[in-house]
Amino acid sequence: MALVPVTELLLKAEAGGYAVGAFNANNTEIVQAIAMAALQERSPVIMQASQGAISYAGLEYITGMVKLAADEYDVPIALHLDHGTDFDQVVKCIRSGFSSVMYDGSKHSLEENIAMTNKVLDIARPVGVSVEAELGKIGGTEDNVHVDAKDALYTDPEEARYFVEKTGVESLAVAIGTAHGQYKGEPKLDLQRLAKIKSLVNIPIVLHGSSGVPDDTIRSAIAGGVCKVNIDTNIREAFVWKMREVIAAKPDEIDPRKILGPARDAAVEVIRQKIRVFGSAGKA
Ligand code: G3H
Ligand code: 13P
Ligand code: ZN
Repeated sequence: MALVPVTELLLKAEAGGYAVGAFNANNTEIVQAIAMAALQERSPVIMQASQGAISYAGLEYITGMVKLAADEYDVPIALHLDHGTDFDQVVKCIRSGFSSVMYDGSKHSLEENIAMTNKVLDIARPVGVSVEAELGKIGGTEDNVHVDAKDALYTDPEEARYFVEKTGVESLAVAIGTAHGQYKGEPKLDLQRLAKIKSLVNIPIVLHGSSGVPDDTIRSAIAGGVCKVNIDTNIREAFVWKMREVIAAKPDEIDPRKILGPARDAAVEVIRQKIRVFGSAGKA
């Protein structure tokens, strides 16, 4: 099956009341784990590569591996650039065959973010590549968000309405209390803000920093309009914890396949569990 644009998956998810998992693909074993989990759960999936993943694995390797998985497995798979901040990188990904890109202009002013997102839309639309934008600041868990700073960092619903009107972007990542990486305490999501955004913006909403968010909170966010849920950290944890376990149990093991194979199996399990929580199992 050819790679599908993310928007196609998200519009179906929105109509069906579920979300599609966007899993970060950092190496061969993780690409395989995402594909295997998708097949076992009969679920559509988004494989996404950050700029860091691209510089680690190589753009053509990432595209090649994900295209191979899409050809081999009979489930819808999208290949998406995660947090693209560089226009040239966006162009390279589209040329390489990505079916979707994120332009993350969240560090810029509202008007600059709109202008850059439109520049990306101008090149992506004619070739059928879908575009996700970000509004508000989704921090790392190290960035402590104080209650009085919420309004400055979280997505402003009126700004979201204005942003979508001025760009016509196809999906929007919002800041409502999640953060990238491992949480120190339990994350508290501003679901009222999500409801307000959704009432003003008629496009699929994307939740970043979703690792470590309790399953019920994820389900509430999906009921509130989230159609794409990004997961990286929980896969990293499952993968590396299993590698550590194997190495601790067999310190003399020197065959990487005997360490990476179990790590891949652990990643499959965590991705399958997420797919079930997101409600996309059986939708492919
Ligand atoms: O949103 C961030 C993703 O987890 C990617 O992280 O830039 O370390 O690849 P990375
Ligand atoms: P986590 O690593 O917190 O799951 O966030 C992933 C993400 O948002 C990728 O864009
Ligand atoms: Zn993210």
